[in-house]
Amino acid sequence: MLKIHWFLPTGGDARDVLPTAPNANPRAPDLAYLAQVAQACDRLGYDAMLTPCGTGCEDAWLATASLIPLTRRIKFLVAFRPALLTPTLAAQMASTYQRLSGGRLLVNIVTGAEPAELARFGIHDDKETRYEQTGEFLEIVRGAWSGEPFSFTGRHYEVTDATTREPPDPVPEVYFGGASPAAEQVAADHVDVYLAWGEPPDMVAERVERMRKLAAAAGRDLRFGIRFHVIARPTAAEAWAVADRLLEGMDPDAIEAAQRDFAATQSVGQRRMAELHGGDPERLTVHPNVWAGIGLVRGGVGTALVGSYEEVADRIVEYQGLGFDEFILSGYPHLEEAYWFGEGVMPRLRQRGLLPDVESGSAPVFSFR
Ligand SMILES: Cc1cc2nc3c(=O)[nH]c(=O)nc-3n(C[C@H](O)[C@H](O)[C@H](O)COP(=O)(O)O)c2cc1C
Repeated sequence: MLKIHWFLPTGGDARDVLPTAPNANPRAPDLAYLAQVAQACDRLGYDAMLTPCGTGCEDAWLATASLIPLTRRIKFLVAFRPALLTPTLAAQMASTYQRLSGGRLLVNIVTGAEPAELARFGIHDDKETRYEQTGEFLEIVRGAWSGEPFSFTGRHYEVTDATTREPPDPVPEVYFGGASPAAEQVAADHVDVYLAWGEPPDMVAERVERMRKLAAAAGRDLRFGIRFHVIARPTAAEAWAVADRLLEGMDPDAIEAAQRDFAATQSVGQRRMAELHGGDPERLTVHPNVWAGIGLVRGGVGTALVGSYEEVADRIVEYQGLGFDEFILSGYPHLEEAYWFGEGVMPRLRQRGLLPDVESGSAPVFSFR
């Protein structure tokens, strides 16, 4: 079975990639709007809401915790940076979250790559050191969740008898993204789900292969998830018209400014995203139904699955064939695109036996004359 997740836009939302575009109609990430997106996803049958971390967004723990009583079944994939919490406190927060939410927490471990962003939070170690710290952090968090007091002495932490009031139930699954060699080793040694940004199949297949070998050498198994935006419509022409409209909203100065940022990035994953198009609006279709246009101006994932419902379902099956069982999707605006995909593509994946049935099902609707 596949797992399909959606993105919670805690940095705000709009009809365009750039909230400054003329027809963007930006939306603040207030509780009422985040609840609308989360409730739509809850109803449509998405598995979890990926919630980012960083200066530009609301805190992921607090924002998602406030949505627990407003949703029924959807999980929250909460991103956070290990360097900002002690591992025992992180274990305690996750354990509490599991009890308060009825087991709806997943965690996304973000080591981070951009020095200016990290410096705002007082993090100054180089990337190798930070990944080493992430590895020790995860070992302690898992120890503290084990139900037995856990002690550890490493280069970054020394803890004695770490534990939580009760072990979390279930133990939250640990997701993780990072494309540098140090990131890959930490993933192989410690995480449950390795995440990649949406690269064309040949680029990403090579990584899956290498990660499987690294994990096997550590005596472990990994699952794989991939992050894309999505524009799915009844016909391909309708979907590409939306992509064209998003492109029109991108002012050339903004494209140029983003390329300057990407050229200076210390993130291997970000560099791979930027190299897909090199800032050239003529080089955006990087694989059938895979469009790199969003990455002209947006950091992080820059690719979208674009096409008819059938085509997008086919592409998902193609990536599943490469080893990806989890898809984390988003679109502009997040509320409307969650419906286009949820009502257009998810039923096709269900018909193919790739997604479980959704509980609510269809309801009779009366129209009154
Ligand atoms: C699906 C996915 C989601 C991510 N979410 C965040 C995030 O919310 N905040 C952030 O600062 N970095 C995020 N990242 C970046 C990575 O976690 C990682 O810290 C960064 O790419 C490190 O660079 P590397 O690729 O050179 O290892 C994400 C990466 C992926 C693949």
